[in-house]
Amino acid sequence: MAQHGKVSTERETPKKKITGQGLKRMIRLFRFIKPQRTVFAIGLFFLLLSSVTTLIFPMLMGDLLDSANNGTIEKINRTGFILLGIFVANAIFSYFRIYTFAIVTQKTLALLRQTTYNHLIRLPMVFFSSRRVGELNSRISADIALLQETFTTTLAQFIRQVITIVGGITLLAVISYKLTLFMLAIVPVVAIVARVFGTFIRRLSKKTQDKVAESNTIVDETLQAITNVKAFANEAFEIFRYKKKTDEVIDIALKGAKWRGLFVSFIFLAMFGSIAGVVWYGVYLVNQGDSMTSGDLFKFILYTVFIAGSISGMADLYSQIQKAIGATENLMDILEEDTEHFGKGNTMETERCSGQVELDEVSFTYPTRKDVPVLKKISFSVKQGEQVALVGPSGAGKSTITSLLFRFYDPLEGEIRIDGKNIREYDLTGLRNNMAIVPQEVLLFGGSIRENIEYGKPGAHEDEIMEAARKANALEFIHNFPEGLETLVGERGVQLSGGQRQRIAIARAILKDPAILILDEATSSLDSESERLVQDALQILMEGRTSIVIAHRLSTIHNADKIIVIDKGEVKESGTHEELLALEGGIYRNLSALQIEVMG
Ligand SMILES: Nc1ncnc2c1ncn2[C@@H]1O[C@H](COP(=O)(O)OP(=O)(O)OP(=O)(O)O)[C@@H](O)[C@H]1O
Ligand SMILES: [Mg+2]
Repeated sequence: MAQHGKVSTERETPKKKITGQGLKRMIRLFRFIKPQRTVFAIGLFFLLLSSVTTLIFPMLMGDLLDSANNGTIEKINRTGFILLGIFVANAIFSYFRIYTFAIVTQKTLALLRQTTYNHLIRLPMVFFSSRRVGELNSRISADIALLQETFTTTLAQFIRQVITIVGGITLLAVISYKLTLFMLAIVPVVAIVARVFGTFIRRLSKKTQDKVAESNTIVDETLQAITNVKAFANEAFEIFRYKKKTDEVIDIALKGAKWRGLFVSFIFLAMFGSIAGVVWYGVYLVNQGDSMTSGDLFKFILYTVFIAGSISGMADLYSQIQKAIGATENLMDILEEDTEHFGKGNTMETERCSGQVELDEVSFTYPTRKDVPVLKKISFSVKQGEQVALVGPSGAGKSTITSLLFRFYDPLEGEIRIDGKNIREYDLTGLRNNMAIVPQEVLLFGGSIRENIEYGKPGAHEDEIMEAARKANALEFIHNFPEGLETLVGERGVQLSGGQRQRIAIARAILKDPAILILDEATSSLDSESERLVQDALQILMEGRTSIVIAHRLSTIHNADKIIVIDKGEVKESGTHEELLALEGGIYRNLSALQIEVMG
């Protein structure tokens, strides 16, 4: 699983060219570090100290070596002690550097995660209908984790490498400018060739990972839809599909291995070769009576190794920054989306509306499918406390009307009024607090039955929850579970039957006690007996509040004050049950006749 996660991270966070725009966006992320700036400065200070002490170490080593030939015992001991002191200091500085950087990163990351989630969850429905949940999820996990590396490791490394390269070369030049020039002619070239080669190798191994990810998708999909696989007896087909994909991995991986073998050989050759070259020239210079000692040569080699390491590390940094820019763009895309306008958003003091609803020539198309009109100049009104039923064929636009009432989307034309006021003028939280819906597809959260009911009114008292469950005719099945209200419902509620889930959704709506109640096929998954019981409960519940009921089974809405027939996004008929039945050739009359026929 961890493996899989890593693969998909690599796949979903594309590298971006380093552009001014990209860097600017990344620098904007630094505002998340701002609250930690003092700690960050302390961390940088420790970083500086540890880098400098690292640079002193080869110097002392060389001196120590030189004192073998021409130093006194005191000098040898003193240098040894100073060296020890440098190591201890370096150890302490490194410890505090790592710890302070961890503080900065963790706090920054938490803030970034919170800000992103905070923003994400308040985005309008339009945003979610055009994105995949998995993708958004990886924004919050993978991209932010990637930025974590950039902020701590990468930044620290960058600073340290710059210090090492600049400081190291300066010190080298002091020791011997000839040898320095010689070294600079070889080492950076090798480091850069290694870098280009390395990128090529990495690209190959990414291809392998992508293939592995593709094969994992097959496992994922088939295990999630295992009932489909089995019901259609497609095991052999899937086994073949999986085998083909996994076999493809072999070829690509082996091709990669060939190049990787070459790469490693090259690195060894070039690395030891260039070290040997520098040593050779250095020894030559010492031998020719240049002002260098063998201790100097030793210093030189150590600095060269340090510098070479830093140069090749710089190359890694470059690709790390490219990835970080990719991750930043993804996050910024989310953070720059406009959220819904919640208005004052004071949830505690929501004014209760009386619940008069009017739709006035409302037209609508979904933003994701702009060329398909879903609602065409729909008008109807519901008086306070009235029960209105929406009926009509599948796809007519009934559920869409409920989405508009909640302002998940705004109408293209026309307006929706509650208590005579356009719903756009209400505080969004207040508007939604006045309504409750039992949706067509009930999705529960993974917790307990209690938590799921309580969602309608967070902090509700035990008695209220039980009362709501009783009214929803849910008590009986709840009591049949040994753990009662504490029974866990499984991921998305899969451990409950459709009818049980529906009754929990009803209980949740009852607990909310809204002015306007919307039932979208609220009893469709119940057997006739339970449906009758829940229907009775809903009847009592609807008493005194405005309710909009969507139903396919017309028998459940005979008593509605008004029935509105919607077809292809238009209001085709409206009136009471009796009035609509009397319409010669009417849609309702036909539907009614058909359903009686089926029942009979
Ligand atoms: N999120 C969406 N994005 C784009 N189109 C959508 C979306 N939801 C629904 N539609 C389309 O809008 C039309 C109306 O859908 P709606 O869900 O309102 O129908 P309905 O009357 O509730 O049908 P049913 O009785 O089957 O529930 C359909 O043609 C549907 O394909
Ligand atoms: Mg629907």
